[in-house]
Amino acid sequence: MSSEDVELEARLEEQEVFEPAASFVEGANVSDADIHDEFEENWPECWERAAELLDWEEPYEQVLDDSNPPFYEWFTDGTLNASANCLDRHLDERGDEAAIEWVGEPVDEDNVTLTYDELHGKVNETAAALRDLGVGEDDVVTMYMPMIPELPVAMLACARIGAPHSVVFAGFSADALATRMNSADSEYLVTCDGYYRRGDPLDHLDKANEGLSGVDHDTDAVVVDRLGRNGDDFGHDLGERQHDWGELMADHEGATVEPVDRDAEDMLFLMYTSGTTGQPKGVKHTTAGYLAWTAWTSRAVLDIEPEDTYFCSADIGWITGHSYIVYGPLALGTTTMMYEGTPDHPDRDRLWEIIEEYEATQLYTAPTAIRAFMKWGEEYPAGHDLSSLRLLGTVGEPINPRAWKWYYKHIGDEECPIVDTWWQTETGGMMVTTLPGVTDMKPGSAGPPLPGVDVQVVDTDGDEVEPGRAGYLTVNRPWPGMLRTLYDNDERFIEEYWAEYSDIDSDDPDDWVYFPEDGAKIDEDGYITVLGRVDDVLNVSGHRLGTMEIESAIVGVEGVAEAAVVGGDHPVKGEAVYAYVIVEDGQAESEAFRAEIVEGVEDAIGPIARPERVIFTPELPKTRSGKIMRRLLEDIANDDELGNTSTLRNPDVVDDIREVVQGD
Ligand code: PRX
Repeated sequence: MSSEDVELEARLEEQEVFEPAASFVEGANVSDADIHDEFEENWPECWERAAELLDWEEPYEQVLDDSNPPFYEWFTDGTLNASANCLDRHLDERGDEAAIEWVGEPVDEDNVTLTYDELHGKVNETAAALRDLGVGEDDVVTMYMPMIPELPVAMLACARIGAPHSVVFAGFSADALATRMNSADSEYLVTCDGYYRRGDPLDHLDKANEGLSGVDHDTDAVVVDRLGRNGDDFGHDLGERQHDWGELMADHEGATVEPVDRDAEDMLFLMYTSGTTGQPKGVKHTTAGYLAWTAWTSRAVLDIEPEDTYFCSADIGWITGHSYIVYGPLALGTTTMMYEGTPDHPDRDRLWEIIEEYEATQLYTAPTAIRAFMKWGEEYPAGHDLSSLRLLGTVGEPINPRAWKWYYKHIGDEECPIVDTWWQTETGGMMVTTLPGVTDMKPGSAGPPLPGVDVQVVDTDGDEVEPGRAGYLTVNRPWPGMLRTLYDNDERFIEEYWAEYSDIDSDDPDDWVYFPEDGAKIDEDGYITVLGRVDDVLNVSGHRLGTMEIESAIVGVEGVAEAAVVGGDHPVKGEAVYAYVIVEDGQAESEAFRAEIVEGVEDAIGPIARPERVIFTPELPKTRSGKIMRRLLEDIANDDELGNTSTLRNPDVVDDIREVVQGD
């Protein structure tokens, strides 16, 4: 390192507050310094600003109907169509411009550019084909697909005909697919034969078929031939009620489908996410509120303009991809990128190569990726011209100041503001973040709540905590992008998100408080640092996993008597899965059995939930009432000083387990 570099490092290391560069502020979509006050004074009508970003079939009559909390309604009586908002209205001006730039994994393959005209055409053909298969308004269509262009095409086709989609991440297991299709009574599946991972074709249809065999009702499936394009094939024969995507498209070539008029509050999609119980929750998002929220935040926070080439490296199988690869960016008429592969194949500069080639203007990624980039070394980005970038974003987990500064310096060249955006599947879009054209940045802290968003940090009684003290995050007012309920389960919706801090017998909206189940602290300037989940949910590489789901997968393995799963700190993944397992009498605590347990988790959930360590133990630390003390297991996993053990029925066990962990 040159002495100049050393000086720069030292300065960055100490700097606590970063102002956005004047060159960025000048051109920012939102640079009005009074915006927070303006929204406050004019709430909830301030959200008309978001609704104005959409085209309405019928105008709405009321911004917010809060007469029946927590079942809030936004933009009531308005009608619109999400696919028309993402496609049709851009055709006149941007028909020939790229809507999606798709980069396939095999590097020498022809990548795909879909202009707005082309995407519109494909969405229409798909909508016609799905309708012919029998998909009607409000039928839930499940998609189990990797990052291929047919995924957003199918999502928008569903939106066009008013059929909610439920996208299941392709890395989830067959069982996870079946659980979600059963829960949503979904009779249609769109999937594909396979895809590429690190250069090799991977079979996907086998897994999809196995999932379908666990679905308790009849289904129709549409199968995209992804590998066939490259001449790879697993030789699948399509079964009865399975339809080849390519043939369906050929049959519907040139078809057009009028976008269905949807009520503002009609369901746009379902997204399953992990919670405290073993059963994933079907989060319901609506047409107008969600689309207005993602469009507004894409514009104000990601600073997206139609001329941009915006790159979010998330997977569309998670909420980030829904909101900030598909709906928000396309609603704004920009070019959104999709990358099928991983950032380290064929080499560790793959993302930088793509950004240079496409002259990407924004990069939105996860701290787990940034930590990996740091570990690989700055020489990878340094070999590429990244000067097209003008804004960087992070999402999914807390980012430590060191990683933030690395990102700022080595990717953004100290010119790009970074938005550290806190939000959840349930919030639909961003909630707490700096506005890049308005607010200063503090590495490690997401920032103040967005204008119009009322977030507090409170203690267990719901009273605001002093700056600097840890507490719980709450959202004290509704917002347009919020989930409306859990699919078919209003009771659980109230129980999970509202009961903690609300007077649930009241119909005064002021008595209702949303609890995201995150710990946080706030500083004197109102900047919020999110500390992580306070429920039994892990955040592994920015992916949300319920400990109960993993535990029930482990106890499902023959020979396991009991299991407890906790998160241990991990330098790249943030958290890693630690599984403490008690075996049944006669079951050997062998390596082979460990492998069986890992396989059991992969089968039930998917490789993302794979335990980092399986620790055999004769007992688990329990309170006198029989509750497992997970905090102690976490302390052991992290080699931290042990918390209070005085309430344990079996205090000696913690030392025994620690010995096992250290001895392994
Ligand atoms: O714990 C918070 C963490 O991710 C959780 C939401 O996970 P999911 O619904 O899968 O959505 C991820 C993408 C929005 C939150 O409850 N989280 C998300 N963003 C941040 C974060 N933690 C700290 N800082 C963030 N910027």
